[in-house]
Amino acid sequence: MKLIIVDDEKGVCFALEELFKSAGYDVVSVLNGEEALLSIREGSFDIAIIDYQLPGMNGISLLKEIKAVSSSTEVIIMTGFGSEKISVEAIKNGAFDFIAKPFNNEEIINRVSHVRDKINAQTIHNDGLGYYFSQSMKQVIDTVKTVAIIDTPILITGDSGTGKELLAKAAHMYSGRKGRFIPVNCGAIPQTLIESEFFGAEKGAYTGAGGLKKGFFELAENGTIFLDEIGEMPLELQVKILRVLQESEITRVGSGVPIKINARIIAATNKDLEKEIAEKLFREDLYYRLNVVRIRTKSLSERRDEIEPLSEIFLKEYAVKYQKKITGFTRDLMTQMINHTWNGNIRELKNKIENAVIFCKDDIISSLYLQLDMTSHTENTTNVNKLYDFLNLPDNITQAKRIIVEEFEQAFIMYHLEQNGNNVRNTADRIGLSRQDLYKKIKGFSK
Ligand SMILES: Nc1ncnc2c1ncn2[C@@H]1O[C@H](COP(=O)(O)OP(=O)(O)OP(=O)(O)O)[C@@H](O)[C@H]1O
Ligand SMILES: [Mg+2]
Repeated sequence: MKLIIVDDEKGVCFALEELFKSAGYDVVSVLNGEEALLSIREGSFDIAIIDYQLPGMNGISLLKEIKAVSSSTEVIIMTGFGSEKISVEAIKNGAFDFIAKPFNNEEIINRVSHVRDKINAQTIHNDGLGYYFSQSMKQVIDTVKTVAIIDTPILITGDSGTGKELLAKAAHMYSGRKGRFIPVNCGAIPQTLIESEFFGAEKGAYTGAGGLKKGFFELAENGTIFLDEIGEMPLELQVKILRVLQESEITRVGSGVPIKINARIIAATNKDLEKEIAEKLFREDLYYRLNVVRIRTKSLSERRDEIEPLSEIFLKEYAVKYQKKITGFTRDLMTQMINHTWNGNIRELKNKIENAVIFCKDDIISSLYLQLDMTSHTENTTNVNKLYDFLNLPDNITQAKRIIVEEFEQAFIMYHLEQNGNNVRNTADRIGLSRQDLYKKIKGFSK
């Protein structure tokens, strides 16, 4: 559950951040409304706790803006003593609750856990766990719901970008387990750190080790550990994981004492594990341990009927994120999209739509903005190559310069957004703009 705290007093931010972290929330705190809006736009927060008195913007205006950017984020407003009027106004404007300062830890934790319960009850269907329209995917998600409550391992297979991680999260969510969901990319952990990352380390167990370090299994206690890309797991580690599965215990580096663990294991891969076994790259005994319940996600070409409804949902989400008024796709483009081979599956579909939304200047997306047969459409949609095509420029040098600069900026930003997987924060850092300025420029592309 993701939480954002907005208060201009650093001390309050710090104290609340610590409090909610220890209660198991994912917490971020910021000191003003503008930062809050930027983070919320990017981070899909479930809950925002905001102070009424903020520099430059009062809590009610911030509340309204948060609701405009992310209607599903629930807001709790912290008000000063004796501010009934404000509280009433807050609720009228869509706040979930308010809390009068000063309050104690227990009070605020209680208030927030009410919101959490409400969100948990309603999220299952729409928020974050994906949308399933086709008969075949509805069956898949039904299976996930059924097996979620038993503690056996689950193995999820399917092509890249088909939603394996999302299903793993859904299984965690439906399991009702109180602990955390810990995703681990099994191929990406350096050899030398494997032991301590997975099993933890005692204080001073190795050079550089500061205090006690909990490993992934301990972090996932009473929750779920998601072993992603299990096909990439080195053989030495496979042996160790097998032992954990057999004995339900781990031993921290530098300790001789085994610790009992209770973490649900879900593994995923886009590799053909049977083939890996034949080639002696994957242990057969581990495979049998993991392959108790097997779920296969379908590629987009096996569920073309989902392309249109998914595209519309993604379009809506990105139109809100980038504050654009775009209402749909041209029929022609949608037909192409339905027939396209999406090798990167849903991830690719999402990225293409996000990119199109960023650069779309019309109220409907056509193949001008979303091109299917090219990996990059950077060259095509801009005039940068035609920098010297004076015929198409106005004669007035100031006007001509302005047009060239605008086109250059757009092409430049488009290129870097693509390079950074449309991540606005990273792109802004990379090209030396503030996130705010980058959002402004993107918004300006529609004019
Ligand atoms: N049914 C769905 N509804 C909405 N979004 C989805 C759905 N399935 C996948 N996505 C989105 O597509 C992207 C890829 O999904 P995910 O990371 O779960 O795929 P994956 O199978 O784990 O991919 P990879 O093998 O590349 O790791 C994510 O942004 C995810 O939110
Ligand atoms: Mg994945």
